[in-house]
Parts: sequence; C-alpha cells; structure tokens
Amino acid sequence: MDSAQLRQQVAIAVESLIWRIGQSYEFTVVLGSGLSSFVDRMDGQMIVPYAEIPGFPVSTVKGHTSELVAGSIGGHRVLCFAGRFHYYEGYDAATVTIPVRVAQALGVRTALFTNAAGGIADRLRLGDLMVIEDHLNLLTADSPLRGLADEVFGSKFVNMYAAYDPTVTRALKSVGERRSLPIACGVYAALSGPQFETRAEIRMLRILGADAVGMSTIPEVIVANQAGMRVGAVSVITDLATDTVTELSHDQVLATARRADEHLAELLTGVIEGADW
Ligand code: HPA
Repeated sequence: MDSAQLRQQVAIAVESLIWRIGQSYEFTVVLGSGLSSFVDRMDGQMIVPYAEIPGFPVSTVKGHTSELVAGSIGGHRVLCFAGRFHYYEGYDAATVTIPVRVAQALGVRTALFTNAAGGIADRLRLGDLMVIEDHLNLLTADSPLRGLADEVFGSKFVNMYAAYDPTVTRALKSVGERRSLPIACGVYAALSGPQFETRAEIRMLRILGADAVGMSTIPEVIVANQAGMRVGAVSVITDLATDTVTELSHDQVLATARRADEHLAELLTGVIEGADW
C-alpha cells in the first residue's frame, strides 16, 4: 500500500470514529489470539465492530473478536482493539498497523500490545506472561514503513534501539510481581507464519537469542515507535516450542490463552490504573 492510500484509509476510519467514540484517548491496548477479558474491566464501554469502521480491514482468524472497544480504566481513556490483523492473513505490514495509526490520530501516547506465543527459553512455563524487552524481527520481507513518504508519517528511519519503553516495561514487571502473576521477561521473535516452526527453526531461534516466538506485534511496535508512543508488550506463553513438541494446534494455543486471559487482564488494568506518565 502506498502512502496516499494508507493516509486515506486512516483518515476515513478516524473521521467515522470521532463522531462515534470521540477523541483524546491516552492508551491503546491490542489483544491477541484468545485474549478478551481485559475488555470486561473497562468502564463506559462503547463498542464498534471493525466491519462498521470504513477503511478498516476485517480480521479473519478464529479466536479473534473483531471490535474496537473504547472506555476507561481508573479514569484513563483507553482504546482497546479486540482482535488484530496479521501478515499471514494476506495483509501487507502497513495494513496490519492501521489500528495503531488510528490510535495515534485519536490522541494515544502509550500502546500496550499482547500476543500468544510459543515459549523457547527453558525457564518459561505455559500461561506465563512474558514482558517483551526486545525483539527479533524475522518478518523482514515487509516493513510497515517500506515505501512510505516521510512527509506523511514522519521519518521512516525509526530508531528501534529502545523500542520497548523502560518505564512501561518496569511497570509491567512490578505490577505483575506485586499481584503475584506468573511474570517473566525476554526477547520475542516474529516469523511470518501461519505454519508453526520446524524443530530446526526452533533451534535456530534459540541460538539467535529468542525467548518466545509468534507471528505478530512487531509491525505494530515499529509503527508505534514511529508515532512516538511509549510501547509495552506482553506475550502469553501458550505452548512450549521446544524441539520435543510433536503436537501443536491453533486450538491448543487458544485454549491456553483463554486460561491465562484473566491474569493478563489484571496485569494491564494494574499498569494503566497506576500510570503516572
Ligand atoms: N509459534 C508461533 N506462533 C505462535 C506459537 C508458536 O509456537 N504459539 C502461539 N503463536
């Protein structure tokens, strides 16, 4: 997608959303596969199905709801995207990041991304909430900034040295520890999917320094950094992608994600309630 088309799609989405849900939001939360409990904790919910947002793609993956929920947590205004778009659905990287661009236009300064991921590091357990400290972008065939005009969205040479904001990352860890949630931290790697990894690929990821592997989030993190947002992200460990695993399915990923969903909702809620930045 070129800059003009992307700008137009974002503009028509923003225009239609402003009269439905207003603007001046502080936080955006993007919920990954099988994750939806956070929405139940929001006050004053206003729900807009993606299908009713002009310019928005439509999520096609099982386990993903497809709606925007606007509301608040502890007095902070929050835009929650319940359901994301993936590169593996056939969208290009710029398209999957439209929600982040829309959030930016509606005032958002902090983005919290979540996903389901396979655990690679031996210390990780099923249901752990891994705070993402850094990433390995192996979705390199396409960047959400590729080909974009700098005049439209700002410089495409985005500094990714501290892509995950230290203040938000610290808040995620300390809220998790204080509430006795199963918190871990590590490096997230994204591959394009949708097939899961071979045993050799898992060994490769381990050697490269990945602690968990998934198929999303990184394009959104890149765009949120370009937009100057503070970024925090959490992987819910839904399977152990060790090279001894022989059975792994999308249904299994969803089932584990649903079990960890309340923990994730508690973590995100705690971080937003306590935010003083
Ligand atoms: N690999 C890639 N993506 C995933 C996995 C996995 O094991 N689990 C959830 N998303």
